[in-house]
Amino acid sequence: MSKVVRVAVTGAAGQVSYSMLARLASGEVFGPNTHVILQLLEIPRSVNPKAMDALEGVAMELEDCAFPTLKEIKVTDDPLQAFDGANWVLLVGAAPRGPGMERKDLLTKNGQIFVGQGKALAARAASDVRILIVGNPCNTNCLVAYHNGKDIPAERWTAMTRLDHNRAVSALAVKSGVTNDAVTCMTIWGNHSNTQYPDFTNAKINGKPATEVITDRKWLETSFVPQCQERGKAIINKRGLSSAFSAGNGALDHVKSLLKPTPANDWVSMATVSKGEYGVPKGLVFGYPCKTDGAGNYSIVEGLQLDAFGKTKWDLTLKELLEEQDAVKELLPS
Ligand code: NAI
Repeated sequence: MSKVVRVAVTGAAGQVSYSMLARLASGEVFGPNTHVILQLLEIPRSVNPKAMDALEGVAMELEDCAFPTLKEIKVTDDPLQAFDGANWVLLVGAAPRGPGMERKDLLTKNGQIFVGQGKALAARAASDVRILIVGNPCNTNCLVAYHNGKDIPAERWTAMTRLDHNRAVSALAVKSGVTNDAVTCMTIWGNHSNTQYPDFTNAKINGKPATEVITDRKWLETSFVPQCQERGKAIINKRGLSSAFSAGNGALDHVKSLLKPTPANDWVSMATVSKGEYGVPKGLVFGYPCKTDGAGNYSIVEGLQLDAFGKTKWDLTLKELLEEQDAVKELLPS
């Protein structure tokens, strides 16, 4: 095993990371011939006395798996150490919404975390680093981190809309009575929030436009779209906890997609730093349809058309992201 990859994960004692770390270490993502070094970050004992203990317990479990592909585990509360030489970085840790906290407070509280992490990444990550932001509000956390870590090129920063993508694929598959692999060309436009637009108009089922297979337009507009937008809340209502293994799975699918070229007849959803595609203001982190080259790079699928319904939804999610950007403007260096 000559290849070694350093993978930094923040919020590493949390429930999303717990469902993801063994899979990252096992060879499933980076292959059987690559050694993985996990660099795991949690918050200091002075802030939460339990987090580092919990992380040490997770590290012990990882050791006890004896994965042939796992070379080393580092646990730390220092972002500079966690990101040192990292080739892949999954920023999962974020501040949760506290009681009575307004949306703007949540944005700025998280923004402050991502200012520091953006700077630490620019200072320490490997020159080929790829960064995925999972911690919410993930688009705007990514915006803040990127703007504060600009030594790292814009195309290395992405935020996660893959869980939403997978939810949308599954919902269309269930409705049309096909298996998940029959649904292609799904796009989650915009924000990972309940304004996202899961675009059924450009999706395909068995290679045919989804709207020709599911002809019940009312269901698509009034059931499918809100179901995708509100799926996170529906899971919290049932489970009493937010999505965990499906979120971890989405993050791993995102990384795997960057490591494997997208099939010619498909694309995946990722939120990326806009270069102005589809008229989105440059620098905003917006969910797009993307194709990957298998070497860690993506390109945005251009030229898709939206109908009047889709355009209305698209405008709403863009508006929300512009409002979020405005809420964190003090954290964005000019
Ligand atoms: P959790 O509360 O179980 O774990 C979060 C962990 O992050 C905690 O252990 C906490 O100590 C740690 N943390 C907080 N601030 C940190 C910092 N500055 N540095 C390092 N670690 C820090 O939460 P869970 O369920 O694991 O979710 C993690 C995040 O992922 C949340 O923000 C959640 O909203 C988000 N999420 C995003 C999804 C997406 O589709 N983009 C889907 C599901 C979850």
